[in-house]
Amino acid sequence: MGEIPSIGLTESQMRALDSSWRGWFLKNQELRIMRKMLRKAGISLQGKVIMDAGCGSGLGTKFLLETFSPSKMIAFDYMPEQVELAKTKGLPVGFYVGDMRRLDLPANSLDACFAITVLHHIPDWQKAVKEAARMLRKGGVFLVEEPQEDTFGWAKFEAAAKANGFEILDKRYSVPLVMRSYLCRKL
Ligand SMILES: C[S@@+](CC[C@H](N)C(=O)[O-])C[C@H]1O[C@@H](n2cnc3c(N)ncnc32)[C@H](O)[C@@H]1O
Repeated sequence: MGEIPSIGLTESQMRALDSSWRGWFLKNQELRIMRKMLRKAGISLQGKVIMDAGCGSGLGTKFLLETFSPSKMIAFDYMPEQVELAKTKGLPVGFYVGDMRRLDLPANSLDACFAITVLHHIPDWQKAVKEAARMLRKGGVFLVEEPQEDTFGWAKFEAAAKANGFEILDKRYSVPLVMRSYLCRKL
């Protein structure tokens, strides 16, 4: 794991993020906005290699599978408890424990990396942005949704994304003034 521990979730946070209302919001707001940004940019992820980094309970992984029908879905989380929960969902995905700052995957092997409310849990999240840039192929996309926190800021994220070879194609609020989504493309 990374030198600085990531910020895990409490049991009640895990339950809330895996609840039916969160499922509704994730599908009808968070992922709808990501789909809109992709559509506007003319990018299709159908049949592509997709990563759900920090997949949590696997709720988002399920919607990503339904929405994009990827040829391969890679999904992992830092917390073993979350991975165990994701495994109970019966999805055709080999969920595993991993750290987004350091992954044992070849360079240029991904078409899309989703990080849905994950980076603000990683004190040195810049390492995760760098790792996403390494794994994505040229033209691959990094989709990020984050609130502003002490550990994470949108302006700092935009600077880090550009420094790691991404162009920011779009950004929108998924929750006005609170939660922002980004579509970044590797140049
Ligand atoms: C707020 S939850 C979001 C989970 C999921 N993406 C969703 O939207 O339901 C943040 C997740 O990031 C995970 N996480 C924290 N640090 C991580 C890291 N370094 N690598 C991978 N996952 C991490 C946590 O364990 C937690 O499950």
